[in-house]
Amino acid sequence: MREQWNTKLGFILAAIGSAVGLGNLWRFPYIAATNGGGAFILPYLFAIITAGIPILILEYTLGKTYKSGAPGAFARINRKFEALGWFQVAISFMIMVYYFAIVVWVICYIGYSFTLAWGDDATSFFVGSVLEATSSADGTGGLNVKLLIPFLIVWAIVAFVMYRGINKGIDMACKICLPVLMLCVIIIVIRGLTLPGAVDGLAYMFTPDWSKIASADVWVAAYGQVFFSLSIAFAIMISYSSYLPEKEDVVNTAFLTACTNHGFEIFAGIGIFSIIGYMAYVQGVGVEDVAAAGVGLAFMVFPTAVSTLPALNALFGLLFFLSLFAAGITSLISIIQAVITGIQDKWEMTHTKATTIVLVPAFFVSFIFITRSGLDYLDFADYIANNFGIVLAGVIEVVLIGWFFKPEKLRAVANLNSNFSIGKWWTWCLKVVTVVVLGYTFISNMTVFFKEGYCGYPMWIGWVCIAFLVLAAIVLTAIKGKPGFYEKPEGAPGYDD
Ligand code: PHE
Repeated sequence: MREQWNTKLGFILAAIGSAVGLGNLWRFPYIAATNGGGAFILPYLFAIITAGIPILILEYTLGKTYKSGAPGAFARINRKFEALGWFQVAISFMIMVYYFAIVVWVICYIGYSFTLAWGDDATSFFVGSVLEATSSADGTGGLNVKLLIPFLIVWAIVAFVMYRGINKGIDMACKICLPVLMLCVIIIVIRGLTLPGAVDGLAYMFTPDWSKIASADVWVAAYGQVFFSLSIAFAIMISYSSYLPEKEDVVNTAFLTACTNHGFEIFAGIGIFSIIGYMAYVQGVGVEDVAAAGVGLAFMVFPTAVSTLPALNALFGLLFFLSLFAAGITSLISIIQAVITGIQDKWEMTHTKATTIVLVPAFFVSFIFITRSGLDYLDFADYIANNFGIVLAGVIEVVLIGWFFKPEKLRAVANLNSNFSIGKWWTWCLKVVTVVVLGYTFISNMTVFFKEGYCGYPMWIGWVCIAFLVLAAIVLTAIKGKPGFYEKPEGAPGYDD
């Protein structure tokens, strides 16, 4: 028997846990600020309504109806579609191995917060003392032994959760992590808003620059943020929803996931940027001179801001890194589950065996990211996964479903158990709007990559990553699965119906 979520709440929390990740905390505020500020809300809302929610409904419906992770769900629609599922699973594998390293750094910083160990120069501390970074041009630089213990801690937590399975593991982890995350962020927001200079941070994030709205790049950024933030097109949501009972209403759940996720990212952004606004005020510089995203925001700018706070610095450092940890872990387990579901559904095996098959290779590969050149490899893998992987997986998904398999059939299925029906707009969003925007994004990303490369990294590494994704998709599709794998459940719409 396929395991099922014990309660609908378990599923909703897991989906929100996956969606609310580092992308919400460290990516959104900066993307919003640099793409039109308050004016960004317009393309952002448009992207949520035309792509985020429709694809979420699509993926929930696919998982629930075909009762299988991404490879199985696509294979049960049409065997020729299976490779797309594996391509998405391969992307998940790639993201998961480097996401580990980020959670490892976060664990280190939870410890450093107590003494504000980064001192006056958080950047040199991070690059020099924590990562002991050397350039990837000189090889890996050897293992950074300091990171080994935190690395093993993260692995132990993750392995514990994954082996316990959907209800005893993932459900439990989300029920612990999400309240912790909410609480930490609420305190950060209250503290942030009561600081002098907070308004400058918020003005930086929200002042509308309407002139930017005409630029295609801003729209691409909005769609990119919505995709990444909702964890769509990388097998996760299909995998989670495949454990839902058939009668579940997924339409309202999709709206709920999207609203919570995006509401949370705007809320968290307010806290983070008001504290950065305060730092700029203390240092007498402009917010635009200190603002950053990603690794730079989390490990360089924010620790510096924490040190400038008037009181309780260690506590606020701790709250920030605890939020990153809680947000990171629930996303990490979702992406691992996406790979496990894919494998367990295709070949005859127990949950324990599937988990081992995924975790053991991932464990060894993730060592690359705790070598002294780990940051470089991470940066590049992240770039390829996001700019090439997810976008391409998204385009193929909407083209196959929108144009080759009639989405109207899935709309009928989705509406069957839904307390409000989705109209034809859903089909058109998938068929036209997302196909055009994602197609354009893919072409423009590739053009830039081939023209300029990425940050001077050797191109061959990019090719190795791309080759891995494509080869994994071909090989895993080719290996024959158990007979039931290809059979669609009764009542699920077939390709030729
Ligand atoms: N939605 C996640 C985020 O915002 C994306 C993600 C999911 C990344 C799972 C990694 C693993 O961070």
